[in-house]
Amino acid sequence: MISIIVAVSEDWGIGKDNELLWHISEDLKRFKRLTSGNAVIMGKRTWESLPKKPLANRKNIVLTDNPHETIDNAITAYSIEDSLSKCTPGEEIFIIGGGSIYRQFMPIADRLFITHVHRKAPADIYFPEIDMKIWEISEEEEFEAIGSVGIPYTYTIYKRRK
Ligand SMILES: NC(=O)c1ccc[n+]([C@@H]2O[C@H](COP(=O)([O-])OP(=O)(O)OC[C@H]3O[C@@H](n4cnc5c(N)ncnc54)[C@H](OP(=O)(O)O)[C@@H]3O)[C@@H](O)[C@H]2O)c1
Repeated sequence: MISIIVAVSEDWGIGKDNELLWHISEDLKRFKRLTSGNAVIMGKRTWESLPKKPLANRKNIVLTDNPHETIDNAITAYSIEDSLSKCTPGEEIFIIGGGSIYRQFMPIADRLFITHVHRKAPADIYFPEIDMKIWEISEEEEFEAIGSVGIPYTYTIYKRRK
């Protein structure tokens, strides 16, 4: 099972200047809960953006196109196929970004865990379009803004149509 997990703005932005657009603590906790114990695959820019690396209790696989590079404290992969071959059969795999990696895994992902953040924000990296002819919503849960600085968001899980 390959799952993409991402938080997107109202206009599908996901990052700016190699950082996230927000830090919604409940969403980050959910990310940790869902991904813990599993493999996470990410691009090198996302790896570089992590404040604390590797992500604890997860198999961290980092993609780079540079055949001479080895990423310290992570498993280095040099292509999409190579990253998948470094997972064990039956292992749950989460694709955790960024934009270039989401785009490449969209055609082979089984599920999308999208946090739709109900805010617009300036961004320089975007999530690819979700084609509803290919995907259907399997679960949805809405959250109101909490406190004066809270941001409302919706968790939506999409699954690939059969
Ligand atoms: N909102 C969210 O949920 C979320 C989640 C994650 C990330 N983000 C944001 O996304 C942004 C980063 O995304 P990004 O698109 O700029 O970078 P990225 O996808 O994280 O990393 C891109 C790098 O990955 C490597 N790569 C990509 N495809 C590859 C392939 N097929 N084979 C081998 N290596 C490959 C290349 O590394 P080399 O240059 O070493 O060759 C490439 O430069 C940041 O702003 C981050 O905060 C947001």
